[in-house]
Amino acid sequence: MQNQTHNITFDTIPVNPDWCFKNVRSVEQWTHGYHRYPAKFLPNLVKKLIEEYTYENDLVADFFAGCGTTLVEAKVHGRKSIGVDINPVAELITKAKTNPVAPQKIENRFNLIVESFDDFNLKKYSNIAVHERIDYWFSQEHKAKIAFLYDKILATRDRATKDFFLVALSHILKNCSRWLQSSTKPQVDPKKNPTDPFVAFQAHTKQMMKKNAEFYAQLSKDKYLKTKCEIRLEDARKTSIRANSVSAIITSPPYVTSYEYADIHQLTGYWYEYITDMTEFRKNFIGTFYSLNQELECGSALAQEIIDSLLKKDKRTAKEVANYFKDMQAVAKEMHRVLKKGGHVCLVIGNTTFKNVKVKSAEVFAEILADLDFEMVEIIKRSIPYKLIPTIRDKKTGKFSKMENKNSKLVYPEEYILIAKKG
Ligand SMILES: C[S@@+](CC[C@H](N)C(=O)[O-])C[C@H]1O[C@@H](n2cnc3c(N)ncnc32)[C@H](O)[C@@H]1O
Repeated sequence: MQNQTHNITFDTIPVNPDWCFKNVRSVEQWTHGYHRYPAKFLPNLVKKLIEEYTYENDLVADFFAGCGTTLVEAKVHGRKSIGVDINPVAELITKAKTNPVAPQKIENRFNLIVESFDDFNLKKYSNIAVHERIDYWFSQEHKAKIAFLYDKILATRDRATKDFFLVALSHILKNCSRWLQSSTKPQVDPKKNPTDPFVAFQAHTKQMMKKNAEFYAQLSKDKYLKTKCEIRLEDARKTSIRANSVSAIITSPPYVTSYEYADIHQLTGYWYEYITDMTEFRKNFIGTFYSLNQELECGSALAQEIIDSLLKKDKRTAKEVANYFKDMQAVAKEMHRVLKKGGHVCLVIGNTTFKNVKVKSAEVFAEILADLDFEMVEIIKRSIPYKLIPTIRDKKTGKFSKMENKNSKLVYPEEYILIAKKG
């Protein structure tokens, strides 16, 4: 199997227009727009995969669930779903997005929270201690208002209602802080005039309430409100999903050393006390610069070739890429374990370039899957609308950066959907 895929390059595969969704206007149907999330799925892509590879009542899994796009689409289509993610912020967002609440319940609680703004007393909240990073990102007044809002939300008894408001507050934290709005990296914008938390909270919650009501109505109409949907805070390399239970895995793994999800979500992480020690928090994220694994050996032949080429240029990058492919081998094995015989894995992944070495993640994945005796069903190439993905990497740091940066290099203008079947 190994030699079969070893020399394959996907460069010559033509872009399939059926999977580009060029005319899709909005990605924010249902609850998809509750919270920003880097490298989030295009819902139409997930919808098409669900419709082509699953039936009603099948169990769909996403091993890198992120903000829960796969789970939301699974629920709308009456498929059961399980999502796994290592990030507690992802877990919270997914819970809220997949559990619509009776609209009146949300409205009643929202009105009470807004009425309580009159009781806000800056003095009472001005000296509260959260974390030094919170003092770094927020003004005294904004910190006090967020602490007040957080208290009100925590006093909500109904779990799903509480999660709904926690997500609303989490989403507005960036707007209310000094964090450069257009950046996923923790970077201060000295010119920013952060939005007032009470104003931002009301505006964003009202939008979410509208979407909650629509989602609730649709699921009630289709009798899918109670369709099983679960998000687990777990490591994709070792999940608690039952063996041979899943009909399809629809997932998009983290890109190699691109987004530092732990750092990106630090505002919510510190406020909600998900993070006490950042080093500890980062350690199990895959594709991170901070991975602790020190190995340079990788079981896949193509991956090893890439690592060896990188090794000649930069040992650190070579190690990061080796870690990434090693982790992905463990994930692929776990996917094989949980899939039913004949079940499909649909993997969305892009290639990139580091130090002029092409890191052919898609081809490596195909090789890893073939080595596990998956049968490749289809390899689809699609182009990605620029607005949906940061396509630029800084040549020096290797991190995603803005288009105008002179060190930038174009990456991920296209991505692949690998569809393989467990034989
Ligand atoms: C590309 S994003 C997935 C986005 C998702 N498709 C969506 O629509 O929101 C990759 C995700 O992998 C998660 N991740 C990183 N390391 C992980 C691990 N070891 N186990 C599970 N999830 C992990 C990150 O937290 C991030 O949410």
